[in-house]
Amino acid sequence: MPQLIAGNWKMHGLAADAVALAKAVAAGAAGLPTGLPCELLVCPPFVHLTAVAHALGGAPVALGGQDCHQAKQGAHTGDISAPMLRDVGAKWVILGHSERRQNHGETDEQVREKVLAAVEAGLTPIVCVGETADQRAGGQETEVVGWQIAGSLPKPFTGVVAYEPIWAIGTGKNATEQDVATMHAFIREELVRQFAEAGADIRILYGGSVRPENATSLLAVPHVGGALIGGASLKANDFLAIARAAKGG
Ligand code: PGA
Repeated sequence: MPQLIAGNWKMHGLAADAVALAKAVAAGAAGLPTGLPCELLVCPPFVHLTAVAHALGGAPVALGGQDCHQAKQGAHTGDISAPMLRDVGAKWVILGHSERRQNHGETDEQVREKVLAAVEAGLTPIVCVGETADQRAGGQETEVVGWQIAGSLPKPFTGVVAYEPIWAIGTGKNATEQDVATMHAFIREELVRQFAEAGADIRILYGGSVRPENATSLLAVPHVGGALIGGASLKANDFLAIARAAKGG
């Protein structure tokens, strides 16, 4: 299974910025060594999806949304449905990101409903889990992440899990290789416990201050199936440098 290198652009950039970034990523992706063992994905803000889809052209870079509603349609002012994402060319969607859980009060239950809606629309969900600094200080990181996995992933689950410790997101303070090794091994165990053999094949991304300087070591940790990248995905050169650090499965 190739590693997945996914860029979460969050709420950054106007249309021209998004198009320029997409073109630079597309050009760089075309120049990456053939057979590079990774898949590339960018997740721009909703309003830029169509423009980014055009800018990517036929480049080997997939498109994703940063959230979707659990309903297909309806009276949900300001929300975007999974079929709408699919319709504009998205193949992926990030769900349950900690910024959604914190800023919009998303619960595990809602995330699970969103996952079902995404899969039904033909999208592959990337479901984010991760503990706060306080939870880690209290030694609760595995318990919290175990509950999030049990609550957020429907059975069966077709998608990707992203371990994103909240204290490492946007802080410049990435988890250590040892932290990542421990948590990814735990998540793998949980996935196998909850999903039997299928759990062995679910890719587990690491996210939280991934940069070109730490990508090689983080991507080499066992059970790391790729990276979910915020800040560094806004610079095409950094994003592509992380892609070059990816390893085969
Ligand atoms: P970061 O964000 O790379 O800026 O820490 C990661 C994320 O939130 O997905």
